[in-house]
Amino acid sequence: MEKKWWQSSVVYQIYPRSFMDSNNDGIGDIIGIISKLNYLAKLGIDVIWLSPVYRSPMCDNGYDISDYRDIAPEYGTMDDMERLIKEAGLLNIKIIMDLVVNHTSDEHPWFLESKKSRDNPYRDYYIWRDPLEDGQVPNDLSSIFGGPAWTYDETTKQYYFHLFASKQPDLNWENKKVQEEIYDMMNYWLDKGIGGFRMDVIDLIAKEVDLKITDNGPRLHSLLKEMNTATFGGRDVLTVGETWGATPEIAKLYSDPKRDELSMVFQFEHITLDWDDVYGKFKPKPLDLLELKKVLSKWQTQLTDDGWNSLFWNNHDLPRIVSKRGDEGILRVESAKMLATLLHFLKGTPYIYQGEEIGMTNVKYDSLEDYDDIETHNFYKENIKNGFSHDDMMKAIWENGRDNARTPIQWDLTDNAGFSSHTPWLKVNSNYRTINVAAALSDDSSIFYHYKRLIALRKEMDLIVYGDFRLLLEEDPNIFAYIRSDSQNQLLVVCNVTGHDIPFSLPTSISPLRATSLITNYNSRLLKDVKNLRPYEAFAYIL
Ligand code: GLC
Ligand code: CA
Repeated sequence: MEKKWWQSSVVYQIYPRSFMDSNNDGIGDIIGIISKLNYLAKLGIDVIWLSPVYRSPMCDNGYDISDYRDIAPEYGTMDDMERLIKEAGLLNIKIIMDLVVNHTSDEHPWFLESKKSRDNPYRDYYIWRDPLEDGQVPNDLSSIFGGPAWTYDETTKQYYFHLFASKQPDLNWENKKVQEEIYDMMNYWLDKGIGGFRMDVIDLIAKEVDLKITDNGPRLHSLLKEMNTATFGGRDVLTVGETWGATPEIAKLYSDPKRDELSMVFQFEHITLDWDDVYGKFKPKPLDLLELKKVLSKWQTQLTDDGWNSLFWNNHDLPRIVSKRGDEGILRVESAKMLATLLHFLKGTPYIYQGEEIGMTNVKYDSLEDYDDIETHNFYKENIKNGFSHDDMMKAIWENGRDNARTPIQWDLTDNAGFSSHTPWLKVNSNYRTINVAAALSDDSSIFYHYKRLIALRKEMDLIVYGDFRLLLEEDPNIFAYIRSDSQNQLLVVCNVTGHDIPFSLPTSISPLRATSLITNYNSRLLKDVKNLRPYEAFAYIL
């Protein structure tokens, strides 16, 4: 596989609403991001994935776009955006834009036209169907945000299709005109010098609603090839597809460089392991650590030269990993560093979600009213109807709700965590006086500096980017250990994924004698002396 810059890059995701507020209206904005570019340069990241900043009614915080060629006024102006691209570029940071083209907002001019009449030129930009004879929805497909995927429109007496909220009507990708409009718009952004696209729920665009196929539709990969040719194909950019339904086989279809589709996939098999089969994230079940190990290592060994994966624990839709898989309490720092170590020595492109680098935690609002997220509110209503108790729902929201990731970034210990002098749009996590960027920067042993070191090591050692992966201690539920190797070197990574002391013995095939320590979250020892792992201990050695 020809080497690409995005294989050795580290991506940092910014959720603009929560990152930094420059004009003190309580909402993060682009100038706020610009003011923190030096902080990101210090961390050492190469790419920013910017969650949507386009004009939007914000029913889903920008994942409902009403103008793809304009910036939401609360986030700033097109001039601000161009300045962000330029100033990030001066620090060698590329900006990738979130491309949300499975659906638009119902306030997008295309949809406003589309719903006017059945013969409107924009009618077929969206998916309209007649009611069944008794007036019922055309079929039983449901929305990912709860309820039916169909909403009735009085004016033309048909239903339109939406896989998310009713304010997010799905585009009809069967329509050539839709394709052309989107490709034009992508080129408009590429011409501004962006570094690529993160493609929102891209596996849904080739749906066939009458056959009830929603993800991985038959025409998906031919559409992506066309998109590649019409837009970014000739440019050296990063494209990453959000692909909930990908297996390693499917991932190769997207990301095998010979196929000219995308650079890499962003798949969730390691995330959804503790979701209920029926109720999903809002009925979490205990995680089987062996399962997690199996899934992570499957993706390492099955995607070799013919595909590329993203490495992540967090994004704007997921709970904070230190709360989820580590310890929010006294072992917060150790466990956050362990989780980072486990992930960043794997093969793939690492993604850090804002605040992860300082070990921000989940939030626990007492009142449902304090939550903003549309998915949280919709499922609260739906699941209560299905017999869930209020307490069970609140517990599930505390554990897996999306607002966990969306609380304002904790910059310092001043009011509102230094995010804004105005009351923020979503309440700051009450632990901001102890967990904040200022505190992390002034402590050499902070989680921040651990991430910085992991990022720097990836730049120094090709082995971390390209080496082979081999899982060790396969059947051990407490230890995640692996070897990365190339023709010259071997790297050993060992992580105690539990909060307990665990006895450890090195597999006999590995000699500890010449091992040199690369990184650890406790004080380092000679590898030959390691007979036990301390709670959440993690280390890496060059053998
Ligand atoms: C993706 C986004 C999520 C959004 C949904 C609809 O899953 O990550 O935040 O709500 O798509 O656009
Ligand atoms: Ca603002």
